[in-house]
Amino acid sequence: MIVLGIESSCDETAAAVLADGRRVLSNVVASQDDVHRPYGGVVPELASRRHLEVIVPVVERALAEAGVRLSDLDGVAVTQGPGLVGSLLVGTSMAKSLAYVQGVPLVGVNHLEGHIYAAFLTDDPPAFPFLALVVSGGHTALYHARAPHVYALVGQTRDDAAGEAFDKVAKLLGLGFPGGPIVQRTAERGDPTAIAFPPVRFTDGARDFSFSGVKTAVSLYVKRHAPLSDTQVADVAASFQAAVVRALVRRTLEAARDLDVHRVVLTGGVAANGPLRAALAAQAAAQGLTLHVPPPRLCTDNAAMITAAGDARLAAGQRAPLTLNAAPDLVLA
Ligand code: KG4
Ligand code: ZN
Repeated sequence: MIVLGIESSCDETAAAVLADGRRVLSNVVASQDDVHRPYGGVVPELASRRHLEVIVPVVERALAEAGVRLSDLDGVAVTQGPGLVGSLLVGTSMAKSLAYVQGVPLVGVNHLEGHIYAAFLTDDPPAFPFLALVVSGGHTALYHARAPHVYALVGQTRDDAAGEAFDKVAKLLGLGFPGGPIVQRTAERGDPTAIAFPPVRFTDGARDFSFSGVKTAVSLYVKRHAPLSDTQVADVAASFQAAVVRALVRRTLEAARDLDVHRVVLTGGVAANGPLRAALAAQAAAQGLTLHVPPPRLCTDNAAMITAAGDARLAAGQRAPLTLNAAPDLVLA
């Protein structure tokens, strides 16, 4: 089965072709970083305009690199939500048109399920049940994946997503956009113990996350110590990153213990973070858990993960009507 997948939920225009849901024949990602960099964050209207400009060439390139013609397709998968409505509309319109013209089935994919399915594109796909930590620019959530397409939400952020915190801290430190990779690089020169950012505990004992406190603490530190030296900038980056990693790892391992789950998937843009991957790998192993982490290029937004999730739903007999609409607030569980 040859499936084309399209992703345009935020600021990446992406298309991929997969064979049998696992073999990535092509995975094209057109980043819009240059468009949004001057603003230090994603500007929704500019994002949808750029999607419109590049969606056709991106799909054509994905087909060409895969050596596949439109007439070879057995299905089309597309991110339906969550995301920016204007951005989602570009992808869904393109996918619906292609499915209609080719007369092949269409399926809508939840972007977060796509992130989870990135783990199925590795040599070591997870067996169900497993716990999935999805950490991205828009979401930070723990899902208990009990069986294919059966998810329970175990915990989520009550304010900022982890990636959003990375992006805001990068902006506060004057490091640029997107923040995650730059904060990670800057942190390599810093001392992660230089500044104590206290851990968050909820009085109701929920397995939730919160990153607005540490972001505010960084903001206060920057104001109090301005102008920061290079060493101070590196120390803030390292201490902030360490605090975020600690919180993500602790809650995930607690949830795995509570639910008696033995496999953990780490995915989403922030899962590209080296220290997070290393800390979770070490501590999961110490707790006897098997960790599944896709390579960084499959953790950040891409269409191969959407195609993998879509292929699984098509194989399960799911079909979307051509009235499929963008769903900016789509939930997974
Ligand atoms: O999954 P993703 O590509 O898009 C969303 O679905 O949001 O995630 C993007 C987020 C951004 O906030 C970016 O700063 C963060 O992932 N990110 C990282 C790293 N690479 C990307 N955060 C920390 N360390 C990284 N190496
Ligand atoms: Zn994403």
